[in-house]
Amino acid sequence: MFKRTASVLLMAILLASFFVTPAFAQKIHGKGGNSKTINIAHRGASGYAPENTIAAFRKAVQMRADYFEIDVQMTKDGKLVVIHDTTVDRTTNGTGKVGNLKFDEIRSLDAGSWFAPEYAGEKVPTFGEILDQFRGRTGILIELKSPELYPGIEEKVAKEIKKRNLHHNPHQRIIVQSFNHDSVQKSKSLLPNVPHGVLAGMNWKNVTDVQLQQFATYADYFNPNQNLLTSELVDRIHSKNMKTWPYTARTQEQVDRLLGLGVDGIITDFPDLLQK
Ligand code: G3P
Ligand code: CA
Repeated sequence: MFKRTASVLLMAILLASFFVTPAFAQKIHGKGGNSKTINIAHRGASGYAPENTIAAFRKAVQMRADYFEIDVQMTKDGKLVVIHDTTVDRTTNGTGKVGNLKFDEIRSLDAGSWFAPEYAGEKVPTFGEILDQFRGRTGILIELKSPELYPGIEEKVAKEIKKRNLHHNPHQRIIVQSFNHDSVQKSKSLLPNVPHGVLAGMNWKNVTDVQLQQFATYADYFNPNQNLLTSELVDRIHSKNMKTWPYTARTQEQVDRLLGLGVDGIITDFPDLLQK
């Protein structure tokens, strides 16, 4: 009897010691003891399907990404559409600036064939249809793309979010971000309970603590180009109570480096890289 109790006890101690090893702790909690690293499919699972299309967003959900990222712009007649470039040239069979084309013109374009023939007929989605189809099923990271070209876009985006009651608390897995920090500030004032993120390109390489502190007055995330991140910067971002989801990892090596730095999430074209 004593022998059995002793061996059960020994097993329990061995198991417990495994679960508190640094390696295991890092795997499930991240470097800083934070929770699981969030997997964000960039423009949908854009490594596998044409970016910013329903096909890419479905793929992201199917691949169990925690969030997908979208780029929102505005047509000439004021409709919110999901597309990355400020022209339709690269990702559709049309030409012209998004802001110079009417919604019906953009909607008639093929946004899938450029990627692969099997995606022929994919359309440029509207912001509203993405919210309707995917809210609650996955998180949505909304980038206001070049908002300086589209006066009033922050109000329109806020209206769509409010219409669907997604603005009441910070746990509804809706986040708004932009490289245009004035736009982020404006959006935050319209949607105070929705988390916001500041995007930072390589020009923010020498971001100071004072600047981070200023961002933290309206942003919950500081999301930089992955090449800008160091372990020291991750710690400084965390010390301002912000999280960091760098963009855009495309290789296992990049994902592994970012995991080692203790980031909170990784924006990637290949959501499966975080699951390996
Ligand atoms: O979410 C961040 C990332 O999407 C920013 O870069 O050019 O892909 O919009 P870009
Ligand atoms: Ca983007």
